[in-house]
Amino acid sequence: MKRISLNVILTGIIVILVAALVVVLVYLKNQPPQKRGVAPIVQIVSMEPDSAIWGENFPNEYSTLLLTRTNNARTQYGGSEPYSKLIEDPRLITLFKGYTFEKDYNEDRGHLNSLIDVRATKRVNDKTPGTCYSCKSTDNPRLWAELGMATFDHAPFSELGTRINNPIGCANCHEAGTMRLIVTNPALEEALTAQGKDWRTFTRQQMRTIVCANCHVEYYFAGDGKYLTFPWKNGTKIENIAQYYVEIAFKDWDHQISGAPMIKMQHPDFELYTADSTHYRAGVSCADCHMPYTRDGAAKFSSHDVKSPLSEVDKACGACHTDVEYVKSRVETIQEQVYETLIATEDALVAAITSIQAAGASPNVDPALLNEARSLHREAQLRWDFIAAENSMGFHNPEEALRILAIATNLARQAQLKAVQAAGTPAVLPASP
Ligand code: HEC
Ligand code: HEC
Ligand code: HEC
Ligand code: HEC
Repeated sequence: MKRISLNVILTGIIVILVAALVVVLVYLKNQPPQKRGVAPIVQIVSMEPDSAIWGENFPNEYSTLLLTRTNNARTQYGGSEPYSKLIEDPRLITLFKGYTFEKDYNEDRGHLNSLIDVRATKRVNDKTPGTCYSCKSTDNPRLWAELGMATFDHAPFSELGTRINNPIGCANCHEAGTMRLIVTNPALEEALTAQGKDWRTFTRQQMRTIVCANCHVEYYFAGDGKYLTFPWKNGTKIENIAQYYVEIAFKDWDHQISGAPMIKMQHPDFELYTADSTHYRAGVSCADCHMPYTRDGAAKFSSHDVKSPLSEVDKACGACHTDVEYVKSRVETIQEQVYETLIATEDALVAAITSIQAAGASPNVDPALLNEARSLHREAQLRWDFIAAENSMGFHNPEEALRILAIATNLARQAQLKAVQAAGTPAVLPASP
């Protein structure tokens, strides 16, 4: 009797447990798929330009992005104080003679200043194309989708500007909904495709670098439509880029003193970094140093206060290096060496420009040799500018920076010798300083 009731009770318990399990499984199966993190507070529409709306779901990322408006600290060679590079180094006025950079060239600032700064620069004028907004606003992804990039680029800067209201923000790097990192700039998509690459197959760590290549790259405006193009068809090293510009016979301007057809480099941070630097080879991404993880109580998030890592070495370098003071001192040494070498290259360029001008004015000048001198000036200066316009004073890739500057100095001195040959007299050499 006792035994039977025990069996009945046990069976009953098992039946109830199985039934409960079935109910739980059915319930779970009918739940929406699990999302990472907390449930979204607001729904963000595709390509939403207003970062504040995204910020309601992601307050830590938004509040740190807001800091880029005022992260104006200056470092030895970088930082975000918008000082004039022309006042700091008057050689630049000679090097950019005849181009808009001769008039106005300031140090960059943090992401939220992008619109204010592009509108304030004296380099913008009536002829400026819409293309200049390409790296400045979260309104772009939506405008590119609506208009196509060709129409966007062709529109006058002032006209396009009436449709652009938001500085750099979430929609430049993330896809709403999934929050994954994406390529938003059609020019980057096209440049990668031309190299047979598809970013959709990239790893998460690769995306943490390529997302910056939406903007921190060398580019030019192709044709009358001023179509934004990255000169990457032959590769992204300086030699590949220089060769590409020769092949398409491109120039940004004619140098007003030497007469050479010149190229202005923009900010090839991505190209210099990925040219086999130690960190790149080790798999380190831009975000590792510029968007280090930060804690807010229990939450760990990426700081969106993108700035000079030198203002937060403990966070930016300390995740991988135990001796933070040592690596910081290495940055100082590297930057000092690159800076000295860079100035030596500038002196060689200024000397070449002066000699080419004198050769041009001399009575028996050989025009073919003079043109060779001009080509050498162009090739020397675009290499120098690759390092000068890059933002890390060589730190992103010290060996490559010094290699390129050595070649640039050599080419500048060759340009000067060619000017002497063209003139047939050493009288065109400038008097020693
Ligand atoms: C190993 C760490 C590291 C990596 C990786 C790295 N950077 Fe940097 N970056 C630095 C340091 C250090 C500086 C120099 C800052 C200074 O001089 O104040 C710098 C400078 C810069 C600057 C100028 C900052 C300023 O305040 O003037 C920009 C822009 C930049 N990096 C973008 C990038 C991009 C884009 C990538 C990836 C393609 C990248 N960095 C990868 C460490 C890094
Ligand atoms: C310049 C590019 C860029 C911008 C602008 C940007 N992000 Fe990010 N964001 C990143 C990168 C890089 C990561 C790291 C992603 C990873 O590790 O997979 C990241 C990570 C995140 C993450 C994942 C959690 C974390 O913090 O690592 C969230 C959420 C996020 N961002 C939200 C935002 C929001 C909201 C905005 C606008 C207020 C924004 N981001 C603007 C580049 C950007
Ligand atoms: C949508 C274009 C865009 C994207 C994407 C972008 N940047 Fe920038 N970045 C800019 C512009 C433009 C500036 C200069 C703003 C100014 O001076 O007003 C800037 C400024 C900076 C600065 C400050 C430079 C200084 O001298 O103070 C750093 C550092 C930087 N970016 C790093 C990065 C990194 C790292 C990434 C990728 C995680 C990235 N950026 C993604 C366009 C972009
Ligand atoms: C995500 C990890 C990571 C971060 C973040 C990082 N590094 Fe490194 N760093 C490495 C690795 C890996 C190496 C290569 C070590 C080796 O090969 O011995 C390296 C090497 C170096 C070297 C030696 C370079 C050489 O050519 O020998 C210096 C200097 C350095 N890092 C400075 C810095 C500074 C400064 C920062 C912060 C702005 C930083 N690193 C951030 C991983 C990192």
